[in-house]
Amino acid sequence: MFNFSASFPNSRPRRNRQNKAILNLLTQHHLLPSNLILPLFVVEGQNIAEPILALPDCFRFSPDLIVKKAKEAYQNQIYAVMLFGVVPETLKCETGKEAHNSHNLICQTIKKIKEEVPEILVIADVALDPYTSHGHDGVINQKQEILNDETVEILCLQALTLAKAGADFVAPSDMMDGRIGKIRSFLDSNSYQNVGIFSYSAKYASNFYGPFRHAVGSANNLKQAHKKSYQLNYCNNKEAFLEIALDINEGADAVIVKPAIAYLDIILQASQNIALPIFAYQVSGEHTMLKLLAKHSNLDFYQLCFEHLIAIKRAGAQAIICYSAIEIAKWLKSQN
Ligand code: PBG
Repeated sequence: MFNFSASFPNSRPRRNRQNKAILNLLTQHHLLPSNLILPLFVVEGQNIAEPILALPDCFRFSPDLIVKKAKEAYQNQIYAVMLFGVVPETLKCETGKEAHNSHNLICQTIKKIKEEVPEILVIADVALDPYTSHGHDGVINQKQEILNDETVEILCLQALTLAKAGADFVAPSDMMDGRIGKIRSFLDSNSYQNVGIFSYSAKYASNFYGPFRHAVGSANNLKQAHKKSYQLNYCNNKEAFLEIALDINEGADAVIVKPAIAYLDIILQASQNIALPIFAYQVSGEHTMLKLLAKHSNLDFYQLCFEHLIAIKRAGAQAIICYSAIEIAKWLKSQN
């Protein structure tokens, strides 16, 4: 790989960096708007755009405005949106029943998007945390333990409900064992073979999810509790590959690594060793970190964010879930 026979002055690597044309010619990795997936937070109501204080420049939108955003995304060559519901406290319960109510907010929103922007892919999150009174992704017993198999049964109902509403892909972000296989066969036995599964296989128990939990309103419910009994330990890399292998065997169509920038080792190894597409999630804390740095140090947010996104692509991710997807897509266009 490395050519040690070259030496200065015959070799002057700067010759390949001396102007814009040669820099452009030799650029190895590119970021396209179509590499981005836009996550959106949905609230009940009409004409609502509520700024999310913890997540700069992001909003909770009512379904009518979500449709507008989806249109704007599509017009900017972003071909997928990912939906998260912000559920009123009155609809939350111990077992997150609202998650599989076929008239729930997410189902209504999926239908609206499919009516008005049918070309865009709708990816629906599968997990109970927006719907549970305790803020966990699964059901719990009196000892506060997360019950795996009981949760998976509910997740299957949630996934089917989302598929029936018109979701193109479901994205289980709960990290229960065995859920991909169970969801796959449940969808298949209900004739939804064409609804795919993007699995959060390597989802770490990260501190960088903080702003998201404020955005969906699970932070107050979760209080001091943590998710370390189901999300991965960030001191480890091996178990990520066990999770990825299991999810591939169980029928995942793509695997997601989350968060992104602190987990490039996982993305790189996964992309070199598996044949399925790898996605990365630039999570809420990463987004906020860049927004605040830009503001605090008077730096260009787009340049900062682009550097992170291209690093994630360089590591081997095919697509990136990114809160600033539309802004970045517009900026990319303005750079040409
Ligand atoms: C929960 C879920 C989380 C995120 C997406 N789905 C947070 C968590 O596990 O508590 C985080 C995304 C982000 O931080 O942007 N199912």
